[in-house]
Order: sequence, then structure tokens, then C-alpha cells
Amino acid sequence: MSQSSEQSFGELNKKWLITGITGQDGSILANYLLELGYKYIYGVIRRCSTFNTKNIDSIFDKLTLFHGDLTDSYSIRKIIFDCKPDYIVNFAAQSHVKVSHCLEQYTFNTNTLGILYILQTVKDLGLSTKIYQASTSEMYGNMTDGKLLLNENTVMKPVSIYGISKLAAQQICDMYRDAYGMFIVSSILFNHESSKRGYTFVTQKIIKYIANYVNKKTTKPLELGNLNAKRDWGSAYDYVKSIYLMLQQEKPTNYVIATGKTHSVKEFIEIAFNLVGITIVWSGEKEDEIGTCKETNKILIKVNPKYYRDIDIDCLIGDSCKAQKELNWSNSTSFNELIQEMLAEALKN
Ligand code: NAP
Ligand code: GDD
Repeated sequence: MSQSSEQSFGELNKKWLITGITGQDGSILANYLLELGYKYIYGVIRRCSTFNTKNIDSIFDKLTLFHGDLTDSYSIRKIIFDCKPDYIVNFAAQSHVKVSHCLEQYTFNTNTLGILYILQTVKDLGLSTKIYQASTSEMYGNMTDGKLLLNENTVMKPVSIYGISKLAAQQICDMYRDAYGMFIVSSILFNHESSKRGYTFVTQKIIKYIANYVNKKTTKPLELGNLNAKRDWGSAYDYVKSIYLMLQQEKPTNYVIATGKTHSVKEFIEIAFNLVGITIVWSGEKEDEIGTCKETNKILIKVNPKYYRDIDIDCLIGDSCKAQKELNWSNSTSFNELIQEMLAEALKN
């Protein structure tokens, strides 16, 4: 065996522990690691009264799953003690921004204290585990109107409980890296989507509605909140690859992962409907704004203020130059391609 194949054989025997493996990113990362040839992939799943494994059903037999919860420090400690992982990827989170204002304490317990339990355990056990923390563009708050691209050095002023909980988590990670020399990477992920996205996030909510409408499963309009918000939307498949690359670097540091382009919720709607031959025409203002099908005059989109946020971010757009330069990572899916992929998958079901 050559030296490099021995090295890659050694690497592929390393153990990965993924929290949030049933979610969008966790399930995509688990698939990607299997494709790369890794054998030991462990995941933390929560006890649930209904099935929550839809995203990992196709690879279920190739994974080792542990019941655990980030709010239960003992369970986290026990899982890490039993696995002694080489990598921990912390995707588990109460990840819904609006819900974070209803579940404030729970959001902190999961998103902030959860990573603290992980770090404490790895430190106490003296492991040399490489740790990844999923940070978010929500940490910036309203720092740009679209002209300034947000990067690793931009000041952050989060406006949601979710964003504040994640900023505190990133600061804990930075402190542990500086104080104890641990390999800890946080990446500031801008919105990223896929067919594995939860149905309460706006992109998948729109896509699911269009698939149902086309398949004649619904005739009612789709109700949404803030149609003018702009987000930097990328593909979860591209973003998960960047996370793998960050963990293969010699030195840990934080990275922004973004496409550098921003689009409004309205633009997403227009493009997605166009793909099924429907042109949306907007009329009215604020709560009275509606989107009508040009071809049939039927109202397809309505605003329902119940989906408004107590406070929202108007615009997000990120600068991933550091990741492009240091990781040789690039975004490879355009906004239109992302919508096409999500819609094609939804129309199959
Ligand atoms: P997601 O689909 O909502 O998945 C969240 C995962 O966390 C699920 O597996 C969920 O389990 C698990 N989880 C929630 N609370 C938990 C707890 N208390 N203990 C253990 N597990 C728990 O999120 P995602 O889109 O994959 O995002 C992955 C990570 O990246 C999250 O930390 C998110 O905050 C962050 N992030 C995401 C984006 C994005 O655009 N997707 C952008 C920036 C940052 P169940 O399946 O049982 O609910
Ligand atoms: N969810 C939702 N539902 N959002 C809506 C709706 C609706 O009916 N109508 C309009 N929106 C607007 C929201 O007000 C927000 O401005 C935008 O659509 C995007 O909302 P989400 O898809 O819920 O995503 P998010 O930006 O709040 O949060 C996501 O991205 C963050 C990164 O910036 C989540 O994945 C977070 O976990 C992630 O950190």
C-alpha cells in the first residue's frame, strides 16, 4: 500500500459524530461522508412520538444512532464518552427564527448550552476531536441594505433570540479555541436549501404549495408573511462540502459561506411559479398584497400577518472570499437551479 493510500485509509477510519442528523444538513453530510468512503458515522437523534427519520431512511442501516438531546448534558457526555469521535459536527438546533421568540429559553438551552456541553466534555476527556459549530447569518441582524457584503469581520447585532443564541454559541467556541487550543471551527452559514428542507421554512413552503397546486391537491391561496425580505440563498449540498473542507485544514478558523447574491421572497415565488407555466402579478400593499395568476386571474398568494416576525431582517448577503481562497470552495448552484431542483423533487411526490 502506498503512503498516500495508507493515509486515506486511516482518514476513512475516523469516526464522525453528527448532532441534528435527521435535519437537512445533518442528513446531507451523512450521505456525503458515506460517498467519500467513511465507515463510522454516528448520529444523535431525539425521541419522537412520530417518525423523524425521513431524511436518513435511505442510509439508516449504514449509521449508528444514539438517542440524545442537547438539553440533556448527561446524554451528550455519555455519547461522546462511548464514541470518542474524531469529528463532531454540531448541527442540532432549534433552527426556526420565528419560533425562537415563542421558545426563548429552550432555544438558548439547545443552541447555546448544547455546544457548551460538547466542548466541556471533549476538553474534560482530553480528546483531540475536531469540532464544527453551525453559525448563522441571523447573527448579523440588519447590517446591510444589499450593497455591503457581510464577512467574518462585520459587526453583528442580532435581532432574534435565535440569532443571539447562536452568536453566544460562536463566542463560546472562539473562547475555547483560544484558551484551550482546541480545533473548533464555526462557519457563518447564509440560508441554504434543498428538498430536505423543513416545510416551515419559506422556500420549501412555497415549493410544496406549488407541487400541491399543480397536482390539484389544493385550491386555496398560499398564505405568507413578509414578501419583501431578501436572503442570500444557496444549496445545502454545496454548503455541506465547505464544512467538510474546513475540518480538513491544519488550523481552525471561522468562515462565511454564502453565494454573494440576494433575492426577495417575491422573486423566489415568481421564478418557482414560472417553472410550472404560471406568471404571478402583484397588486395591493402590505397586508392586502396579493399574487394573482396572470393566465386565470386566480389569487394564489395572500399575506397573513400571523407569519410576520416581531422583528425581521430585511436583507442578507454574504462575502465568502475567505472560504474561496483558503478552502478552494465555491458555490456551484445558481438561484434558478436551486429552485428548479427543489421543485423537480417536490413534483415527484
Ligand atoms: P434543521 O433541518 O432544522 O435540523 C435541526 C436538527 O436539530 C434536527 O435533526 C433536529 O431534530 C435537531 N434538534 C433540534 N433540537 C434538538 C435538541 N434539543 N437536541 C438534539 N437535536 C435537536 O436545520 P438545518 O437546516 O439542517 O441546519 C443545521 C444547522 O445549521 C442548525 O444548527 C441551523 O441553526 C444552522 N444553520 C442553518 C441554516 C440554513 O439555512 N439551513 C443557515 C445557517 C445556520 P428533529 O429532527 O428531531 O427535529
Ligand atoms: N418561515 C417563513 N414562513 N418565512 C416567511 C414566510 C412564511 O410564511 N413568509 C415570509 N417569510 C420570510 C421571513 O420573514 C424571512 O424574512 C424570510 O422569509 C426567510 O424565512 P425562513 O425561510 O424561515 O428563514 P430565516 O432566514 O428566517 O432562517 C433560516 O436561515 C437562517 C440563516 O440566515 C433558518 O434556516 C435559520 O436556521 C438560519 O440560521
